[in-house]
Amino acid sequence: MQFIIGNWKMNGTRKEKDTMTATISRKKTSARVILCLPFTLLSGENHGVLIGAQDISEHDNGAYTGDISGKMIAETGAKYVIVGHSERRSNHDETNKMIKTKAENAIKNKLIPIICIGETLAEHKSGATKAVITKMMKENLPISGKFIVAYEPRWAIGTGLTPTPEQTAQIINMIYEYLKKHNHGTTPIVYGGSINATNAKSFISIPHINGLLIGGASLKTKTFLPIIDSIS
Ligand code: PGA
Repeated sequence: MQFIIGNWKMNGTRKEKDTMTATISRKKTSARVILCLPFTLLSGENHGVLIGAQDISEHDNGAYTGDISGKMIAETGAKYVIVGHSERRSNHDETNKMIKTKAENAIKNKLIPIICIGETLAEHKSGATKAVITKMMKENLPISGKFIVAYEPRWAIGTGLTPTPEQTAQIINMIYEYLKKHNHGTTPIVYGGSINATNAKSFISIPHINGLLIGGASLKTKTFLPIIDSIS
């Protein structure tokens, strides 16, 4: 089964969520479609479409103004949460340690974390990708529980640039072997970064890829539905 995960980031109104989820619910697809929405859109009508959040607090409750706990997310009916997205790492100084705690917190609250790992452009250029990804897997992934790994090269997010399918295949294979060695052989691995209807198929056909994480192209039905179609 392939996952098609939309990440709306800080975009979208309730009306736009309604249109998108109603449209997806009418689609015949073998893919598991998940929409990761801003906190304010998590609750309410979703026409049976799976919903995820984009961040989770490291803490359970208390004096953390502006933060949202795993329990609060679970109470909305959301089943997934993105953890460690590149924009959280850059804009909110999230560390590997924080990200692991967030992932564990999600699992504790019966949410499935979608844990993002990826190298910067400088790391990519200097040939450090494999070392960076290995370190992130060691430091970000929970020991047990269900989760999804999203390989998102940070330089590919929102830039229109992607690694070649060959480069991607190498990294995905490395992630797969690591997970297998650590008793997570069935953990889904998705790719994210500048996916659109034109390139979706070439990424989805890479061995051991179980889906795609899509930002910009997930915002409109016109650009998102053709990506779902490329799976069906
Ligand atoms: P993009 O974003 O598809 O717009 O590159 C991907 C992501 O941020 O998850």
